[in-house]
Amino acid sequence: MLRLVLSPLLLGALSSIVYAYPGFHVALHDIHSYARRQDGIGNSHSTVLLADLAANGATTPAGETIRNILQNTAPAVVDNSVVYARPDAVAKAGEGGLNSEACRQDACCVWSYIVPAMSTSTIVPAFARDGSVGSGGADGSILLSAGELQRSENRGMGDYGNLVLSWRDEFGAYAGPGGVTVADLIQVGAMVATVTCPGGPRIRTFVGRPDVDDRVPPPADHLLPQPTANASTLVAMFAAKTFTATDLVALVGAHTVSRQYFADPAYAGFPQDTTDGVFDTAFYAETDADVPPAGVYRIASDGVLARDAATQTLWQDYAQPGAQTRWTDAYATAYFRLSLLGVQNLNGLTDCSGVLPQSKPLP
Ligand code: HEM
Ligand SMILES: *[C@@H]1O[C@H](CO)[C@@H](O)[C@H](O)[C@H]1NC(C)=O
Repeated sequence: MLRLVLSPLLLGALSSIVYAYPGFHVALHDIHSYARRQDGIGNSHSTVLLADLAANGATTPAGETIRNILQNTAPAVVDNSVVYARPDAVAKAGEGGLNSEACRQDACCVWSYIVPAMSTSTIVPAFARDGSVGSGGADGSILLSAGELQRSENRGMGDYGNLVLSWRDEFGAYAGPGGVTVADLIQVGAMVATVTCPGGPRIRTFVGRPDVDDRVPPPADHLLPQPTANASTLVAMFAAKTFTATDLVALVGAHTVSRQYFADPAYAGFPQDTTDGVFDTAFYAETDADVPPAGVYRIASDGVLARDAATQTLWQDYAQPGAQTRWTDAYATAYFRLSLLGVQNLNGLTDCSGVLPQSKPLP
């Protein structure tokens, strides 16, 4: 089984997004009132539209799909029957198919070669956030902008970063006009890693994110969620990025497959639940217990969210037996949003969900 590796620091990305799209004053106001309405209920996903979907509405089929998922009227999970088939001309070319005009003309084709290369790596790197700083959002800046990988928050990312850049170099030549962007590699890698874990949702996956202009330096200040933060700070940080408390509680469930190295070096390598590598809800129950099980390191912010009045009802719901699908559906919806933050051309993306590996049941 492959271990899911995601960056712990997804929120930095989030910090500047709201300011990056037109009409943000209105959006910010909506977000805040929305967040207030959800306070203490913890049962509703954000429905806030993003970027060009907020400004111009859905103008393409892809835009409609994305809009429906963002507004929670369509599921973010895509089932195993959705499978990408390479165009005939590509299939006939056999091994040389990747290097064919027919492949270049189909936006998903190159990804049907990249994804298996990711799956067979010893570690599938995925990043809960991409370039969460700088211009913000899923724009590749974590790997492309000067100084990003040197940030203390991004410790431990160097190896995965080099792997991602190697995929770009290997496959970029075979892509269509947009190339293979680092922003897409990171987000597709996250989706592949998630579905590769037993129990992990198969989350609808779009490509076409442009990369950040790497000559643009990231801003000096970063607003990353700290493990020492209290619940109201964490809820407010996520609300500023269009997430509700429900979305936050669902998203931190990613710690079901995480291990910590830097929060407390004395316990380096400790997982956050007893079922490391399995995308299950044991994390919620074990974080809710008085003390963590032996061999588990509890990140302080997780313990806080499990107990705060604004988040504990939902936390305990996910801690119940039988919550798996409730949680993975919620996780998929919230992560789908996260994977698109800061992307300005949502109507121009292409749905390549069919290239994802098949999801696997819990053991
Ligand atoms: C409340 C917000 C959050 C805080 C304060 C937080 C904090 C942390 C901390 C302190 C670590 C350990 C890092 C280390 O010491 O090596 C960690 C790891 C991790 N976090 Fe979070 N996290 C948050 C939300 C999230 C979210 C929303 C996701 C994904 C959707 C996520 C995914 C991960 C993953 C995958 C790891 C493991 C990284 C690895 O294995 O190298 N976290 N997080
Ligand atoms: C949470 O932390 C922030 C920042 O440290 C602080 O201003 C705020 O008063 C705290 N809220 C509560 C409820 O403790």
